[in-house]
Amino acid sequence: MKTIIKNGMVVSPAETYEADILIDGEQIRCIGRDLADEEARVIDAAGKYVIPGAVDVHTHMDLQAGSSRAVDDFYDGTVAAACGGTTSIVDHMAFGPAGCGLHHQLAEYHRLADGKAVIDYGFHGVAQHVNRSILDELEAMAEDGVPSIKVYLTYDFRLNDAEAFQILKRMKELGGVTAFHCENHDIVEYCRRTCVETGHTGPIYHAKSRPNLAESEAVARVLSLARLAGDAPVYIVHLSCKESLEAVRDARRKGQKNIFVETCPQYLTLTEEKYLEPDGLKYVMSPPLRTAWDCEALWEGLACGDIQVVGTDHCPFNYHKEKQLGKDDFTKCPNGAPGVEERVPLLFSEGVLKNRISVNRFVETVCANPARIYGLYPQKGILQPGADGDLVILDPAAEWTITHDKMHSAVDYTAYEGMAVKGKIDLVMQRGRVVAENGAFTGERGAGRFIHRKCYGAE
Ligand code: URP
Ligand code: ZN
Ligand code: ZN
Repeated sequence: MKTIIKNGMVVSPAETYEADILIDGEQIRCIGRDLADEEARVIDAAGKYVIPGAVDVHTHMDLQAGSSRAVDDFYDGTVAAACGGTTSIVDHMAFGPAGCGLHHQLAEYHRLADGKAVIDYGFHGVAQHVNRSILDELEAMAEDGVPSIKVYLTYDFRLNDAEAFQILKRMKELGGVTAFHCENHDIVEYCRRTCVETGHTGPIYHAKSRPNLAESEAVARVLSLARLAGDAPVYIVHLSCKESLEAVRDARRKGQKNIFVETCPQYLTLTEEKYLEPDGLKYVMSPPLRTAWDCEALWEGLACGDIQVVGTDHCPFNYHKEKQLGKDDFTKCPNGAPGVEERVPLLFSEGVLKNRISVNRFVETVCANPARIYGLYPQKGILQPGADGDLVILDPAAEWTITHDKMHSAVDYTAYEGMAVKGKIDLVMQRGRVVAENGAFTGERGAGRFIHRKCYGAE
């Protein structure tokens, strides 16, 4: 099957230009002016942006978190992703049983995604303890298409500094990337305990017990460990505050290389006042929402290139069910919020159309950079001959309002209810097939393929 996308404004990180795109089978064959092919179906994109299918390298589909399970499995979650313009995800594996090897979770995640995912997908490993066998297994994980691993500095299976350091060193030898959830566990736990003991149990105390400095201290510490490991590639997930960004800038100013930073739409657009609303539990996520001052700092960081990626941390729990576990005590509320469908339109509307970032920077942060850092590029993340036919046609003039009934996740709310948005996704294509059109899913259960990712720097 052939398709020509005609007269669109094609966007890459470097430029925006009017062109046609010919997709032949699953791949882009050529990009140019006045393309014609008798066999091709023609889609008119005049006046619209054509961007690469977006890449979300931070999702948690089907995540088991304590006694709660994220409500999107790999089908519902990837349908939502597709409708929101995302054609590839790299999902963070959940912790497995204590003591399990890395391949235990890899096998489990293949089982969870295979036959369900509607878009292409990869996985990040998770390090929940460290010993010789885990360090040896990292190489086999990379060979199996998983050249990245996540380390948590808080939660039950957190690593200590020496363990994190060993992972960083080994991943550097392998050309892999280590992702970190950065929060100072002892401080956060002390603050949470103190809140509960003093009767401060409402959702706002979720934010108060996880202060900016508890995050930035952990960011600075991780960057020191990565430096000590010879500038090992390090990726800070969901960076949420100004102090953390300053820690990153400090390290870079001192010459440290291979630091990658991700933030998420919620940290750019929502603030901690949300916790004071009657449905404040909807926003219990870690790190918590911060202040307008932090949002502005993150926008600046995104604009100037200090932040490379906008991921989502999509981790949905129903407000009327799982989130209610926290109704008398925020510490019992499962952490996480949905966002995989909202990311692309939100960032376009709040970022590009409000002149905070250029359309090229938008494409760089939601498509190209995540693909480059995590070994999906240039198959994904860029529109060029030979790349997969993954693209999004986005109408910059259309206006709409985000409401839960328009979303496709299985969760019972959107964190952005009632937000007015400019810029609407007309059509989403994955490997030459239309998977979403005018807000409706048109793809196929199980059509997504596992992406065997390459090591960092290998294109
Ligand atoms: O609250 C969050 N972010 N939940 C998902 C797990 C994580 O920390 O990324
Ligand atoms: Zn996290
Ligand atoms: Zn996460």
